[in-house]
Amino acid sequence: MDFMQNIIRNAKKNRKHIVLPEGLEERTLRAADHVTANDIARITLLGDPDAIRRKAASLGLKNIENVNIINPGSHPQKAAYVDLMLELRKAKGLTRQEAERLVEDPLYLGAVMIKAGHADGEVAGAMNATGDVLRPAFQYVKTRPGTTVVSGAFFMILKDKEYGNDGILVFADCAVHPNPSDRELAEIAVTSAGTTRALGGFEPKIAMLSFSTKGSARHEMADKVIRATQIVKETAPQLAIDGELQADAALVPAIGASKAPGSNIAGKANVLIFPTLEAGNIGYKLVQRLAHAEAIGPVLQGMAAPINDLSRGCSVDDIIKMIAITANQAAQS
Ligand code: ACO
Repeated sequence: MDFMQNIIRNAKKNRKHIVLPEGLEERTLRAADHVTANDIARITLLGDPDAIRRKAASLGLKNIENVNIINPGSHPQKAAYVDLMLELRKAKGLTRQEAERLVEDPLYLGAVMIKAGHADGEVAGAMNATGDVLRPAFQYVKTRPGTTVVSGAFFMILKDKEYGNDGILVFADCAVHPNPSDRELAEIAVTSAGTTRALGGFEPKIAMLSFSTKGSARHEMADKVIRATQIVKETAPQLAIDGELQADAALVPAIGASKAPGSNIAGKANVLIFPTLEAGNIGYKLVQRLAHAEAIGPVLQGMAAPINDLSRGCSVDDIIKMIAITANQAAQS
């Protein structure tokens, strides 16, 4: 069974409740219709119910009739959510007036519903920028205990089965944290190992990437990766990890053997941790385009409950997949 078939099967088993704040957006509506028809998750759409139903009817989407719709402007929980927002953010200077405004913003409402335990996860971003989706998530859902940094992983499904775990590699961070410190990079590696097991179902072999392999270049940027690797080895000694490694040493057995002899990871890596967001974001897009790999993600990891961000260029199929992934994360959090 392939990666996505497995994710869809698990989602169907768990029937988690996923909120979609962009309720009037056409691709989102089509995805909600498909997910509901196929019982992949329970969906709540945010938006004006009449407008959503009219649009669904005009698109011939019959299953939207069975979807829960919440109007951000008027619903029974509104006052309680304002109180919850104040409780969580008063110390950060949030006023009642601001909370009353923000609670009507679907991206904030979605995050607060999750915090209140009224939804299991959220998918948004078909019409909102990454930062606008992430900020409410960071402020209200926050990181899970023991984690300080949210990051974004991609499952890269390669046509060539030679690399990674039968052609599947996890890349991180490709989406969130521009310039992690050594400790944060170590945390991203540990969190990515959890995502690999939880969604990929295989044992992570983690390469901490750099432009240097085992001291071949001396630079403070390589030193950061060396320190991060050491931190993981000390704090999570059960994980299979090595660094600093160049990408070819991480992936190609012969090059790994010559550049990093004795390494348990060189030539065998299936999880690649990039030193900065620049490297990770550019790296995944190059592999996606030049190797015609399928890039599934970003799967946001490290949050107390799953909220996932879509690209504004996403397809209906991308949204369906992200809903199923979010449902899987919710089932395991
Ligand atoms: N993990 C956890 N919490 C975080 C993180 C993080 N990585 N980053 C910020 N926060 C928290 C802060 O601690 C703060 O919490 P507080 O208000 O409770 O103190 C809150 O989020 C806001 O922090 P800011 O520093 O004000 O965050 P800002 O809004 O400036 O930036 C953001 C956060 C938007 C995620 C920023 O890091 C960003 O723009 N990252 C790049 C995203 C991006 O454009 N990615 C590429 C596109 S995606 C793709 O191509 C797949």
